[in-house]
Amino acid sequence: MTKTQTVKERIVERYSRLSDDSRKFSNIINKPLKQSFRVNIIKGEKEDILRQMMLYDSSIKKVPWCENAFESDLTNLGSSIHHFSGQIYIQELTSMIPPLIVRDLIKKNKILDCCAAPGSKTTQIADMMENKGHIIANDARHGRIKSLRGNLDRLGITNTTVTLRDFKSFPNTKADLYFVDAPCSSEGTIRKKNAVTRKWKDYDYERFSRMQKGLLKKACEMAPKGSTIVYSTCTFAPEENENVINEIINEENVKLQNINLNGLKMKKGITSWKQNDYDKDVEKCRRIWPHHNNTDAFFLARMEKC
Ligand SMILES: C[S@@+](CC[C@H](N)C(=O)[O-])C[C@H]1O[C@@H](n2cnc3c(N)ncnc32)[C@H](O)[C@@H]1O
Repeated sequence: MTKTQTVKERIVERYSRLSDDSRKFSNIINKPLKQSFRVNIIKGEKEDILRQMMLYDSSIKKVPWCENAFESDLTNLGSSIHHFSGQIYIQELTSMIPPLIVRDLIKKNKILDCCAAPGSKTTQIADMMENKGHIIANDARHGRIKSLRGNLDRLGITNTTVTLRDFKSFPNTKADLYFVDAPCSSEGTIRKKNAVTRKWKDYDYERFSRMQKGLLKKACEMAPKGSTIVYSTCTFAPEENENVINEIINEENVKLQNINLNGLKMKKGITSWKQNDYDKDVEKCRRIWPHHNNTDAFFLARMEKC
C-alpha cells in the first residue's frame, strides 16, 4: 500500500481482477451496509416479534435467502428492547451463511463450534436446533467468552456449553459437525464504518494463514469418519482461503463438498493466485462478493471426513 492509498483503494487494487465486475465491486465497497438481524424464535413467535418491531420501524425487509433474517434502515437496533430481550440478534448477513449451508445436518446433532465468540453463529445454530441437541462453543480469548456467555444468556439458549481453550490443544472430541469460523484479516468487512481506520499489512496474510491451517487441521484430525467440517472467513485474501483449503485437502483425510444456498449468488473458489496453483477441487469452495448480494465479503468451504 502506498502512503497516499486508502484502505479501500488498496482492496480494489488487490482484488478487482478476481471479481467479475471491477466497477460494481469498487462502487459497492464505498457504500455503507444496512443493519441486519435475525429473529430468535427461542424467545417468541417470529410474526409477533416482527409485528411489534414494525410499529416503530416500517423499513424492515425480509432477506430472501434466510428464513429468519431481515434488514432495516435504522442504525440503532442495538438500543431496542427487542435486542436487549433477546428477541432479535443483530448479525451481518454473510455471518449467517455457514449454518445455512448445512441446515440439513443441524437438527438434533452434536456440534463443536471451534472459534465461537461472540456467538453469532452459535446462537443461530441453537435457534435452528430449537434449543435441543448439544453445542460446544469454544474460544481462546477470555474477553470474548464473556460476550459469548452474555449472548447465550440474553437469547435464552440452554443447549450450549462454553469452553475457553486454544482450539489447537482441545481434547479430541467426536461431533457430527464442526465449525471453524477462523480468525482472519477481516478485509471483507470493509463496508463497516470503523474498517477504514484499520491497518492491513501484507505479512498479516501469512500469520493468519498459519493460524487458520493449524485450527482447521485440528478439527479435521479429531472429526470422525462421515462428519462434516465447515471452514469460513470474512476476507478476500486467497492466502487465508483457497490456499488454506488446498493444503488441508492435500494433507488431511477430507474431501470438499458442493455448497448451495437458494437465492444467494456465490462464485467458485479460485485455483491460482500469484505464483500458486491450487487443486481443481478447490472450486467447490464459495466466495461471496459484496456487489452480488449487497453484503460483506465471505468465503466458505464444506468438507466431509473420509
Ligand atoms: C471470526 S471470530 C469468530 C466469530 C464467531 N464464530 C461468531 O460467529 O460470532 C474468530 C474467533 O477465533 C478466536 N480464536 C483465535 N485463535 C483461536 C484459537 N487458537 N483457538 C480458539 N479460538 C481462537 C478469536 O478469539 C475469535 O473470537
